[in-house]
Amino acid sequence: MKGIILAGGTGSRLYPLTKVTNKHLLPIYDEPMIYYPLHTLISMGIKEIMIVSGRGHAGDFLELLGSGKNFGVTLNYTIQEEAGGIAQALSLTEDFSDRENIAVILGDNIYEDSFDISDFKGGARIFLKEVSTPKRFGVAEIKNGKIVSIEEKPAKPKTNLAVTGLYLYDNKVYDYISTLKPSHRGELEITDVNNKYIRDGRMDFSYVKGFWSDAGTFESLYNASTWKKIKEEKNEN
Ligand code: DAU
Repeated sequence: MKGIILAGGTGSRLYPLTKVTNKHLLPIYDEPMIYYPLHTLISMGIKEIMIVSGRGHAGDFLELLGSGKNFGVTLNYTIQEEAGGIAQALSLTEDFSDRENIAVILGDNIYEDSFDISDFKGGARIFLKEVSTPKRFGVAEIKNGKIVSIEEKPAKPKTNLAVTGLYLYDNKVYDYISTLKPSHRGELEITDVNNKYIRDGRMDFSYVKGFWSDAGTFESLYNASTWKKIKEEKNEN
């Protein structure tokens, strides 16, 4: 399985923090944001990883992470020229995937868990977490133990189950992306990709047990840093 970290986008919700640097290079307490998704993929046993970044500050990712040698992995880099959405960023990794299954993680998603994905053989898998603010996320509806739909940032969420930013896909994901149309916000949406897998009966899910947060807003960035600080303090005692 190959790994992909999506670190494009504009980071506009964190302005002015993102005026002179990239969102994914901002600190989450004691480490740059991008270390967290990188560690999550590494904890899954993934050895070959591609980072998709935007044009701005792309060289800083290389400066920070290099070949990946210090992390025991091989890193590859590519550029998303414009923030055309998560699915559009993912489409840039088709050659890299080399028809293998892929684990995709959003560069601003912070997980405490490490995940055992050894049983993943094909189709797709998403990772759900109960949240108090489902409106901010993709929201999953489950019926009789099966996932029936995902709505992207619904005004009236049917559940409080957020679709977090970790996805396992087989190679069919690139075919699905090629059929997508831009959403009302002008982006190719990962939720549309996931709904295609659901419609084809090829999506399963599991739950995130430990802490999870995105870090794309002031509040979530702060919360993620606070979680990490408390975790470090517990480790010291
Ligand atoms: O955090 C989980 C949520 O992430 C999911 O629940 C949603 O279904 C999913 O759409 C996404 O929602 P956001 O609106 O919060 O995503 P955002 O635009 O903040 O992008 C998240 C990361 O995805 C960002 O840190 C880098 C990557 N990205 C995003 C865009 C728009 C790209 O690489 N390229 C892009 O064009």
